[in-house]
Amino acid sequence: MSDNQHLDTTAITAGRRGARGLSAEISTSTVWSSDGLSSTHEEIVRGRRGKAYSRYTNPTVRQFEEAVAELEGAQDALAFASGMGAIATVIFALCSPGDHIVAQQQLYGGTLALLAGPVRRMGIEVTFVDATMPGAFAGAANKPRTMLVIAETPANPALAVADLAEVGAIGAPFTLVDSTLATPLCQQPLRHGVNISLHSATKAIGGHNDALVGVIAADTDIIDAVWAHSVLHGAAASPYDAHNALRGIRTLAVRQQRQCTTAAMLASWFATRDVCTAVHYPGLATHPQHALASRQMTGFGSVLSFEINGGSAACARFLQAVELVRPATSLGGPETLVCHPASSTHHGLDPESLSASAAGDGLLRISVGLENPADLIADFERALTKSQS
Ligand SMILES: Cc1ncc(COP(=O)(O)O)c(C=O)c1O
Repeated sequence: MSDNQHLDTTAITAGRRGARGLSAEISTSTVWSSDGLSSTHEEIVRGRRGKAYSRYTNPTVRQFEEAVAELEGAQDALAFASGMGAIATVIFALCSPGDHIVAQQQLYGGTLALLAGPVRRMGIEVTFVDATMPGAFAGAANKPRTMLVIAETPANPALAVADLAEVGAIGAPFTLVDSTLATPLCQQPLRHGVNISLHSATKAIGGHNDALVGVIAADTDIIDAVWAHSVLHGAAASPYDAHNALRGIRTLAVRQQRQCTTAAMLASWFATRDVCTAVHYPGLATHPQHALASRQMTGFGSVLSFEINGGSAACARFLQAVELVRPATSLGGPETLVCHPASSTHHGLDPESLSASAAGDGLLRISVGLENPADLIADFERALTKSQS
């Protein structure tokens, strides 16, 4: 790959390993035989570079990891059974009881629940900060045992934007950015000094709602440390899902271009509807952090959210009324989806965390797919009208 190759080309060339087959082979074996005691030992101690047991490493998963590393401009990458598998493994690999984590208060509901529940229960202190306040991360990352800073940008579901350069400049031993909503095509946290870029590849990277995968990209020493823990944690990616996620990478650029364009158009359209009391999309000039998003993103993503007059009852009528758009809780696929985060992705959070994450009762999140925008607008127009009846 030449140094100045464009990312959309890298999406096609990444992770090929010189193979003649244009589609990756699915390596289904969970175990490989050896020539005896010493060769098994040799494979085991070679760790990720060995070929002994699929929880340690798998050729198809490895090919997906190499592709992600190339896209992220990282030394290496490591895949997991899901985005949550990635987040949990990283936290428990890098943090010990008594350590301190600084985390953004606007996070995916599962990450918030993990931090507020099991992580605190293990004796790890967590301080939540408002990512939209300049200096908030650095201000809180001042304890002797601050080990990890966690940001998510743009944040699910209300699209708060965290300043990657600010997070990257923090001297905490480790900084992690969940970059799922941006994809590696629209944003590259490592280029801003962040240590770990994380994706739920279940979303736009896989892109077809048929793979559950998580992945991190980072320097080799970090990946090796997380990998040593991950073989014990056991959230290994399936080769079938890694294959689908790698196939998704090949079309990621063209899907993202189309989905970002439609999302921008829809965000502007929702902003013209009286019943929408607020529209959240980093590409809108009215987004409070539009200037920051423009500096650190090359596209604004395929997710937007809006608040609707009439709260959760109006949201329920909206979800009943859509015909083309499907009520469902994921994002990044070809079908446009709508979800009510307060009762789904962020369900079960205490009222304070819910309000801090901006997943209010009247907020609907849209994951914009690949349909013709005119058909989507017709469906949304009908649903907005019915939401007020
Ligand atoms: C931003 C973000 N991070 C992480 C996750 C968790 O990913 P997974 O569902 O693959 O575990 C999600 C899931 O919706 C998400 O939206």
